[in-house]
Amino acid sequence: MVGGDVSEGTAPVVEIAGLGKRYGRTLALDGIDLSIGRNEVFALLGPNGAGKTTLIHILCTLLKPDTGTARIAGFDVSRQPLKARRQLGVVFQEPSLDSRLTVQENLNFHGLVHRVPFRLRRRRITEMLELVELTEWRHALVRTLSAGMKRRVEIARALIHDAAVVILDEPTVGLDAQSRERIWAYLGKLRRERELTLIVTTHYIDEVDSCDRVCIVDHGKILALDTPEALRARYGVEQVRITPRDLATRTGIMEQNPNAIAEASGDIVLPGATHGVVDRLLGGFGTGISNISIERPSLESVFLTLTGREIRDQAAERPTLARPNARTGEPVN
Ligand SMILES: Nc1ncnc2c1ncn2[C@@H]1O[C@H](COP(=O)(O)OP(=O)(O)O)[C@@H](O)[C@H]1O
Ligand SMILES: [Mg+2]
Repeated sequence: MVGGDVSEGTAPVVEIAGLGKRYGRTLALDGIDLSIGRNEVFALLGPNGAGKTTLIHILCTLLKPDTGTARIAGFDVSRQPLKARRQLGVVFQEPSLDSRLTVQENLNFHGLVHRVPFRLRRRRITEMLELVELTEWRHALVRTLSAGMKRRVEIARALIHDAAVVILDEPTVGLDAQSRERIWAYLGKLRRERELTLIVTTHYIDEVDSCDRVCIVDHGKILALDTPEALRARYGVEQVRITPRDLATRTGIMEQNPNAIAEASGDIVLPGATHGVVDRLLGGFGTGISNISIERPSLESVFLTLTGREIRDQAAERPTLARPNARTGEPVN
């Protein structure tokens, strides 16, 4: 059921086979097989506890797998950890800057550790600060920056040396919607400017649409792996979007359709709907509906098909993005 092979002809830059990892009784990774191609933007999508960070830590040589192998640019992470690490730029899930140093000092120190020659180091620091729009903060102490700005410094830092693969473990977690969008914009720009492979983990399903391939993981297993479009076509369910004209219509539709989702915009989304449903709604609420359309399957519905759960169940942990309660339409946070 795992599809979407990397394009033929180019050797994969990341090769993972039979990877397993257990913490006591918890099976964090349950036999992962995966190939990631050069210049791919690869999303690892799964709820909290799915095993994403465990997989990333193994790739970064911070953790030894119990079974299986992983190679970065041909180097085995267990047998050639230094060579494998040199190919990697990493943004960890947990903050890892030295807050007593300035932005530039953090970046420079990283460049020194990776033996980036002085002039290249200076140029890269300037370029990367420009990319993440922090040029003016170059000499600021890291502890004076906001959480979103710190994340951006960490992204810049991962790009100071010549990494073939840049791994970002939940780079947008805990950030407001605008900061999250900006981070994805930087990643898109970076990808156009430099030849590198990006591996990004997230549990925000709305973020992965611009990735080349999405690997959906849960309980340490790969449930599906393909392009967003192919995932939609194979596992997705179409939905009906309704824009009610007034509150009475909105309430009426919500009451009659227990699986309807009320969005903050005022729209109602009915998953798994068909033309028959559209006819029924128009019959019942006709003039109360200002707009109704059938939409292509969402990645949410792909996740639901694969896991039987909504990844949205975790929406309450989002700090600023107000998500309506599925029943009442009230914002949950
Ligand atoms: N150091 C650890 N000790 C014990 N259990 C752990 C440890 N790290 C992770 N786990 C468990 O392993 C599973 C996978 O965790 P993790 O890789 O952090 O998932 P994710 O990054 O997708 O949220 C979870 O059940 C988690 O509780
Ligand atoms: Mg994690």
